[in-house]
Amino acid sequence: MRVLGIETSCDETGVAIYDTEQGLLAHRLFSQIKLHAEYGGVVPELASRDHIQRVLPLTYEVLAAAGLELSDLDGIAYTSGPGLIGALMVGASVARSLAWGLNIPAVGVHHMEGHLLAPMLEPEPPRLPFVALLVSGGHTMLVDVPQIGEYRILGESVDDAAGEAFDKTAKLLGLDYPGGPLLAKLAEQGRAGIYKFPRPMTDRPGCDFSFSGLKTFSLTTWQNSNQTEQDKADIAHAFEEAVVETLFIKCKRALEQTGRKTLVIAGGVGANQSLRQRLKDLKAQVYFPRLEFCTDNGAMIAYAGALRLQAGASEPPVIQPRPRWPLTELAALAS
Ligand code: KG4
Ligand code: ZN
Repeated sequence: MRVLGIETSCDETGVAIYDTEQGLLAHRLFSQIKLHAEYGGVVPELASRDHIQRVLPLTYEVLAAAGLELSDLDGIAYTSGPGLIGALMVGASVARSLAWGLNIPAVGVHHMEGHLLAPMLEPEPPRLPFVALLVSGGHTMLVDVPQIGEYRILGESVDDAAGEAFDKTAKLLGLDYPGGPLLAKLAEQGRAGIYKFPRPMTDRPGCDFSFSGLKTFSLTTWQNSNQTEQDKADIAHAFEEAVVETLFIKCKRALEQTGRKTLVIAGGVGANQSLRQRLKDLKAQVYFPRLEFCTDNGAMIAYAGALRLQAGASEPPVIQPRPRWPLTELAALAS
């Protein structure tokens, strides 16, 4: 079964074709970073308009790259939530219209399920059951995954998501948007042990997170410093270390609590090298998606949708995105 995947939940248009026999055939991504940079964050209306311009050209590009025609597709998967309503509308409208015209099924995919299953696209995929750490710009959660589609939330952020904390702290330090990767780069110049940041909520039981205090801590530390470039790098280093250490402690706890031996990392912050390095110290098998599939992409949507279509998922042909959509509402796939 060949499935076209379309991702348009935020500021990246991702399109891919996944074949349930042959694996990933082609994928393309257009990032709107430059479009939003001057505003210091994503402008939803600009995002929607840009998705409109990109989706079909990218679709024809992936078809050409895979040597296929539209008529070779057996199904279409698109991100139907969570995300920006206008941006989601674009992907949903195009996907549903194409499916209608081609008389093939379409399925709406949960964006976070897409992220969570991205490591499955690697040559050595993780085996179920596992614990997943989802760390993106909008979400931070630890999820127990007994089977695909059955997601039990072990803990989540009570305020900012990890990526959001990276982005906001980067902004406070005067870095451009999106700040996460830039802050991580600056942290490489920082010296260890200069500043000691708290590890929020690690002294309490449970797997919930809180990251908003770290950004305030960064700001006060910066204001009380000599405000040199070295100070900035040292603060970036201490901030990153605090986030990474907190995530490490909670992952360890989630594995102990569930007795699982496998940990899967997904979402944009999963691209962070310090995090990837530190999690290797866990007594568990740790799986990451390749770097380009940590952040938003069409491949993960094509894959997650293909699993659901293959299992016979059928939905009425209505265009109805879900900007808010709890992961726990998904149906388990029979294994
Ligand atoms: O998963 P994603 O592409 O989009 C959402 O669904 O949110 O995640 C984007 C987030 C942004 O907050 C970005 O700053 C962060 O992931 N990010 C990073 C790194 N690369 C991306 N944060 C820290 N270090 C990185 N290397
Ligand atoms: Zn995402």
